[in-house]
Parts: sequence; structure tokens; C-alpha cells
Amino acid sequence: MPTSQIPVITIDGPTASGKGTVAHRVADKLGFHYLDSGALYRLTALSALRRDTDLTDEHALAKLAEHLQCSFQGGAIVLSQENVTDAIRAEEVGNTASKIATFPAVRHALTGLQLSFRKAPGLVADGRDMGSVIFPHAPLKVFLTASVQARAERRYKQLIDKGFSANMQDLLVDLQARDDRDTNRTIAPLAPADGAHVLDTSNMTADQAVDQVLQWYAGITK
Ligand code: DC
Repeated sequence: MPTSQIPVITIDGPTASGKGTVAHRVADKLGFHYLDSGALYRLTALSALRRDTDLTDEHALAKLAEHLQCSFQGGAIVLSQENVTDAIRAEEVGNTASKIATFPAVRHALTGLQLSFRKAPGLVADGRDMGSVIFPHAPLKVFLTASVQARAERRYKQLIDKGFSANMQDLLVDLQARDDRDTNRTIAPLAPADGAHVLDTSNMTADQAVDQVLQWYAGITK
């Protein structure tokens, strides 16, 4: 099958909107591959933090992004032979990822890697600009959102479950700052792509959101 005909479902949305869980389950149900594009920005951020790279040096950061030695092995994310699945979820790494993601050269450096995830029988791609920039011709685009309060509660639970410490008030402030940065940047800002279905999951379980996405997908493959 030519790459351009391999189906892609894009699931974009703000941080902690539940898109990771939903995208993963949709991919599992359909037997599709899964791209966690945020992980690529987080891996670049983790590399930069570990090497003490100047976080304002766009060129140096883009080089790191371009030469990321990473692989996705089942549920594990490996960077230069080290399992960093949990390390990249730290808030410092997420905040740094959001900052370096404002640089066009960094985004450009990660584009080819993201496109390479499009393999038969299909792909579910999760991020901020999957439907608007990376896969603009995807047959199904979804924009998941939820209230700041609901998202802060989810992020709190995620962090505690992973053994990190967390404070609700700090999380709310961080989430809002991250939303502002992701939404107001000039390149690939966080916004529903043209033709995206918007789904507010504040009062929904992950399974209800998954069912809705699968229903939309069934509607276009009929
Ligand atoms: O989805 P996440 O929280 O793991 O993403 C971390 C940061 O990476 C997010 O704050 C902004 C950036 N990002 C992006 O700019 N574009 C993407 N497609 C995915 C993530």
C-alpha cells in the first residue's frame, strides 16, 4: 500500500487532556501503530538537560533533535540504550519540551521521524499539530480537550502513580503556562485542525472517549 494511502487518525489536544490514553487504546483496538509525538519533544528536552545544552540555542537543540538515538520498544521508550520511559514524564522535562518546541528548527528536525511512523495497517498519532501540520490529509482528525481542573487532577494522579511528588496548585499554574505557550506560539500552535472533531472529555471516561473516536472512524470507513 502506498504510504499516502495508509490511514492516519490524529488526536491532538492540550497537555493532560487524556489524548495519550485514548490514542493508545484506539491504536490497540484497530491494530494500528502509535506515535507519541510529545515523547520526541520530551526526549530532545531530556537530552538537552542532561548535556547542559543552552536552552536558548535553537541550532544546538535542533541538532540534538535530529540525532536522537531513540526507539520505542513495546511500552518502553529508550534513549541511547537507556530506558527513559518514566524519566521523560517529569514536569521539568515536560516544561522544557514545551519551551524548545517553540523553535521552528527543532520542529523541523523532528518532522521526518514523525512521518516515518506511518506504516500499514495504520497509525494513530498523538500530539499538538498532528492534524494541522504533520498529517494534514489524515482521514480522521480529533481534538481532545478538558477543563484545566480536570486535566490538573489527571496529571496529579499520573505523577503520583509514577512515584513523582506533585502539588495541585503548582500543577494548575504549570498547566496554564504550558497551555499559553503551546497555544500562542507562532509556529504550529495548539488548535483544532481544519475539519477536526472536538471532544471535551472533562466528564467522560477514557473508554467513552475511545468509543466515540472508533465510532467516527467506523463512519468514514463504511
Ligand atoms: O504531549 P506532551 O505533554 O508529552 O508534550 C510535551 C510538549 O511537547 C508540549 O508541551 C508541547 C510539545 N509538543 C509539540 O509542540 N508538538 C507536538 N506534536 C507534541 C508535543
